[in-house]
Amino acid sequence: MFSRSAPPGGEQRLLTRIWTGLILLLITIAAILAPLRVVLGADLIPHAALLDALLTLLFAADIAVNAAESRRTGLPYGRLLLLSDILAAIPFQLAGGYPWLLFVRLFKLARVAKAMAVWRQQHLHRWNALRLVYFIYWLAIAVHWLATGWLSLRGLYPGADRWTLYLRSLYWCISTITTIGYGDITPANNSQIVYAIVVMIFGVGMYGYVIANISTIIGNLQPARTRYLANMEKLGAFMKSREIPPAMQRRIRDFYGYVWEHRLGYDETSIVQGLPPGLLVEVSLFLKRDIIQKVPFLKGAGDDLIKEIALVMHPVVYTPGDIVFRAGEPAGDMYFISRGHCEVIGTDGLSIVATLREGDFFGEIALLEHRPRSASVRAATYCDLYRLDKESFDLVMAKFPDFAAHIGATSAGRRRQGEETAARRGPPR
Ligand code: CMP
Repeated sequence: MFSRSAPPGGEQRLLTRIWTGLILLLITIAAILAPLRVVLGADLIPHAALLDALLTLLFAADIAVNAAESRRTGLPYGRLLLLSDILAAIPFQLAGGYPWLLFVRLFKLARVAKAMAVWRQQHLHRWNALRLVYFIYWLAIAVHWLATGWLSLRGLYPGADRWTLYLRSLYWCISTITTIGYGDITPANNSQIVYAIVVMIFGVGMYGYVIANISTIIGNLQPARTRYLANMEKLGAFMKSREIPPAMQRRIRDFYGYVWEHRLGYDETSIVQGLPPGLLVEVSLFLKRDIIQKVPFLKGAGDDLIKEIALVMHPVVYTPGDIVFRAGEPAGDMYFISRGHCEVIGTDGLSIVATLREGDFFGEIALLEHRPRSASVRAATYCDLYRLDKESFDLVMAKFPDFAAHIGATSAGRRRQGEETAARRGPPR
């Protein structure tokens, strides 16, 4: 029921991903090589003509692939993306003396930005890690461009190795951007001074961005923990100001500690409530799979009953010693135990009539017989329970006779046991 089958069109999606990966790699190569070839000479890399032909061909094919993908998904191609794709696919190499024209290919970087935006949507839960990757990607490209810009201002000395010159430029650029600035390479004329100022300003801006985001990024790496700590701080201040007794404070802290540890502090009911009905059923089934597996008669029950129950059960947590309800109280719900132990306490308020464990349920007698609770129930450990309110209970009982029969049989057995115990004790003195 909970197994995940391969989604339809999975193969098609895999091919699209491989193609997108290839195109993004080629765009990145083009973005690295274009300024290098302009500054260091068109003959910098071997087989440049072949590479240009390949880029033109694959970028042209990419337009066809994107158009087909847009038709398949119903999402518009986007005018700006189409324009950048067309510009990048123009075979400028045929014009001759073309190195500067290679820059037009860089419009295709819009594809990278688009892919990043799509990944962001698809992997929101990993947004912090992605944000770091995106930042490093764009920073590396920017540093490379700035380094080649510096190299073009410095000029090539005759006889010098071109890659060594590039390396020196990169070294200058990184030491300036990181504000280390050793001063061993200094601007020699006005245009170089202006350029150096621009790079310094860029470096300061980048620093500002990193510092402003670093605490958010680190904090968001463990969002639940950050939220938990902030809430605990607020809670501590509140309890102090209201002079809550220390023992009670400890129990409140323990409760929140448990909830955060086991549920990451999220209230699953409120989170799933906003989902559309179909997805709501699927998510509820998934979230409650543990209890469905643990309750013996639910495990063997039909899909309809399980769906119905999964939708109407709500999680609640009790800490050790908490009274779930007391004997004689009016009844509004029954409970299933997902984790922990609960004790049924006799009417004397002391004796433990039964200890209920994972997969057991309680609170059904009062609902069935429309009378107050026959006994008190106390959490012996931390307990994760699922609560079923009376209205839903009546509904499920009326709709699913097997469920009603099982609850009825268990309840009758418990009542009989209760009567036998009472008879053994004799009349109250
Ligand atoms: P209810 O009467 O609603 O509230 C107390 C609950 O304790 C009762 O329903 C049963 O679910 C449960 N209970 C009572 N007696 C026993 C028993 N002998 N064994 C297990 N559970 C019991």
